Amino acid sequence: MDKALSGIRILDMTHVQAGPTSSQLMGFLGADVIKLESPAGDATRKQLRDIPDADSLYFTMLNCNKRSITVNLKNEQGKAVFTKLLKICDVVMENFGPGVLNRLGFGWETVHEINPHIVMASIKGFGTEGPYAAFKAYENVAQAMGGAMSTTGVPEGPPFATGAQIGDSGTGVHLMAGILAALLQRERTGRGQYVECAMMDCVMNLARVKWRDHQRIERGPLPEYSRQDFESFTPRAGNDSGGGQLGNAVKCKPGGPNDYLYVVVQEHVWNSLAKCIGGDKLAADPRFDNIDVRRANQAEMWQMLEDYASSYTKREFMAILNEIDVPCGPIMSTEDLIDDEHVKLREMMVELDHPERGKWVNLGCPIKLSDSPVEVKRSPLLGEHTDEILSEVLGYSDNEIAGLKEAGAFTR
Ligand SMILES: CC(C)(COP(=O)(O)OP(=O)(O)OC[C@H]1O[C@@H](n2cnc3c(N)ncnc32)[C@H](O)[C@@H]1OP(=O)(O)O)[C@@H](O)C(=O)NCCC(=O)NCCS
Repeated sequence: MDKALSGIRILDMTHVQAGPTSSQLMGFLGADVIKLESPAGDATRKQLRDIPDADSLYFTMLNCNKRSITVNLKNEQGKAVFTKLLKICDVVMENFGPGVLNRLGFGWETVHEINPHIVMASIKGFGTEGPYAAFKAYENVAQAMGGAMSTTGVPEGPPFATGAQIGDSGTGVHLMAGILAALLQRERTGRGQYVECAMMDCVMNLARVKWRDHQRIERGPLPEYSRQDFESFTPRAGNDSGGGQLGNAVKCKPGGPNDYLYVVVQEHVWNSLAKCIGGDKLAADPRFDNIDVRRANQAEMWQMLEDYASSYTKREFMAILNEIDVPCGPIMSTEDLIDDEHVKLREMMVELDHPERGKWVNLGCPIKLSDSPVEVKRSPLLGEHTDEILSEVLGYSDNEIAGLKEAGAFTR
């Protein structure tokens, strides 16, 4: 069946999380993703294993809809196979440490010379230029350096990393946008180009509103923050909404770690919310009459909401607030989500079968296209498609494949 990216062939040298997120999304959208691994394989295959000798969930959850070929790029015959692959692919992707591809002899200039139509896409911690360019990076390094950690947590506590992988997966999504744009431009120019995403830049982009606040601080305190003792940088804001409306996580019954409902007190729902939690008396109370006074008295307002919520579970409280059109959402644990009807209906939890691990669950594709339905296919075993790609995609004969094997093109 025709898919959005049918006919696009991606040579995917990415590893760990940032790059594989990007290539998996493009696989979901129909690209033919050839994952080229070193003979040792993507390190995540063996990391955090839950079943002995089976590819880890870390690997399987980020490498669906791909075929795997192992090629030794430090072997001359392996380099020859790689060069042939470069010639027939639309995109080559990598997220190696600084300088790795140049050391292997395949920097952008060389790749562009081999195939002027190919789009080359790289993720680096900090890009290829600048004082930080030589540094490696992982998720929390990017969160630390991109301004996310300094603005996450409570003001009186240490900086925190967010649970969502904005440094790795967030960068992968940015990379996909860059690749698709480069493919569109190639339609007009016929030329490939180099696409680069630095994890630090992408985290900064995802924390954009924190720079809004940084510049506002110069003009005075920010009223929407519940703590008003500002220094010269954007502070950690706990669960404050961070937008033009007041918001917070309100504790509910029975008081477990995730028994909270996040409530946004939109200006035009205050009257009905006040009547719900405190009757006509609260609705008429001038201390909460408009957003400015509510901001000033928000500690008292949140306490009233929490007192009311203590009689209800987060789901019950949500149902009450949904009735009066108050924007809100329960704090969902992973357990809540994996069993959630809405999540299932949106195909965000997909059961797959794997030869080594049996049945397991992967997240589905969050990008829904009406003409390009997604079929999630399990991740490949290491080198599972080496022969298939050599013969069907590259046209090598059985004898040639045997010769390449003999020369160590696919092994260490
Ligand atoms: C993630 C990261 C820190 C891992 O560091 P690392 O484990 O030391 O791995 P590197 O990418 O630096 O190096 C990979 C090595 O494998 C080798 N290699 C990779 N594919 C190969 C292949 N097919 N055949 C032979 N060797 C191969 C490389 O040549 C390199 O060896 P070298 O150090 O001798 O040059 C690093 O890759 C990085 O900073 N990447 C960019 C930022 C990023 O994406 N981070 C997030 C990851 S989720």
